[in-house]
Amino acid sequence: MEPSPFSERADLGFAWSVKDSFLQYVRGMRDGNVAWGAGAAVTSEGEFHFPLLAARRFADATMLSFGGNVQFTAHHGLLSVSIGEPRIALRDGEADLLIHTGDAVKRIAVIDLPPRIQDGDVTMWLRCGVTLVDHGAELFGGTYPAGESLAPLTLRVPSGGAAEIPSAPRLGQN
Ligand code: HEM
Repeated sequence: MEPSPFSERADLGFAWSVKDSFLQYVRGMRDGNVAWGAGAAVTSEGEFHFPLLAARRFADATMLSFGGNVQFTAHHGLLSVSIGEPRIALRDGEADLLIHTGDAVKRIAVIDLPPRIQDGDVTMWLRCGVTLVDHGAELFGGTYPAGESLAPLTLRVPSGGAAEIPSAPRLGQN
């Protein structure tokens, strides 16, 4: 994983288990496999943790970039779903969840942000609702329709308000 201003802060990032029934489906198959790497980890609650790498401010949103990759495979490779280098575009009360697929960054879900909670120098949103949008439906082979609920997501970023998260040196790239 690339070094970032947040490298020393393992508590920053987001934790998400994608969708419990999808994990059960993949894990229940003889050749089903769930692999993670590039900075992604599994929390004590069994959620995947994607570490915060960078924050970039725009007029209408703050774009948070995360490291890590989680890969689901089954059906002799016919099923291959990858959640890699995710991003969250943070706005007031709502956010978008985006992932890298090939060379593109696609919006796969909307995140419903509950009121933020202050925890020392960290701002967090606990168990946010996550709802699939069109590109997210493609990601899962069209099995789930847009509007399907995914697993809740917990986000932790440095305090000071989302708009004041320190910017990364790689600002402007990607
Ligand atoms: C050889 C090809 C495939 C076969 C035979 C197959 C078969 C099945 C079956 C039988 C179920 C129902 C499982 C249950 O209810 O317990 C299912 C669910 C599902 N399949 Fe596949 N599948 C195939 C390929 C794929 C591919 C390529 C994807 C793409 C990501 C996919 C994604 C899903 C998803 C998301 C579910 C719903 C899991 C849930 O939430 O319960 N499948 N599939």
